[in-house]
Amino acid sequence: MSRKAIIFDLDGVIVDTAKYHYLAWRELANQLGFDFTTEQNERLKGVSRVRSLEILLDIGKVHLEEDQKTTYLKEKNEQYLQYIAKMDHSEILPGIDDLLHYLKLNKVPFSLGSASKNARLILETLDLIDLFDAIVDGNDVSTAKPDPEVFLIAAKKLGVPAEDCIVIEDAQAGIEAANKAGMTSIGIGDAAILHEADFMLSNTSELTIDFIQKLIA
Ligand code: BG6
Ligand code: MG
Repeated sequence: MSRKAIIFDLDGVIVDTAKYHYLAWRELANQLGFDFTTEQNERLKGVSRVRSLEILLDIGKVHLEEDQKTTYLKEKNEQYLQYIAKMDHSEILPGIDDLLHYLKLNKVPFSLGSASKNARLILETLDLIDLFDAIVDGNDVSTAKPDPEVFLIAAKKLGVPAEDCIVIEDAQAGIEAANKAGMTSIGIGDAAILHEADFMLSNTSELTIDFIQKLIA
């Protein structure tokens, strides 16, 4: 068994769902009368649903009462779940399926560390849930990324010290959380956005077994 462990973010790392979160938020923004760009969406990546709405309203300079917020949060999630219902294995990001099976076979412990409250549903839909040694998601934390709580709980569940954990993330908030936890961070995406990561890869195809082997050796 490897001394090191890996913690995977879900949306935008394991599965291509980040685009669905964006589309659902954009629909809401349009409904509220403003546009919402992919660039602005970077601020929403990795953060909780509630925090995402606050950031979106700040971008659109829209004020809502608490009960309206609750209604819109529900609406956004229902829209998102409609996209998820149509999702299949082809939306697992390149190389991830092979990597997860390689880690399992080689007894490298790994956990999910996601802000999403839909994480278990998504992993079940993709038949990936049983591979994970631990799952920590938006239902398990009291403070969202960029707070390190989600990753620290994952490390505890895996029984591996934080400094031996490697976090794979596509969000700025996630890289910040991993760094605060004292873990090694790997950013997947735009280097200009994820520049605080210890390692930068432009997409999951670069997250090869060879690359991971060297990190856990
Ligand atoms: C994160 C996503 O993984 O989960 C965010 O990057 C999302 O975009 C957050 O808002 C919460 O997800 P959910 O599924 O609970 O709305
Ligand atoms: Mg993500």
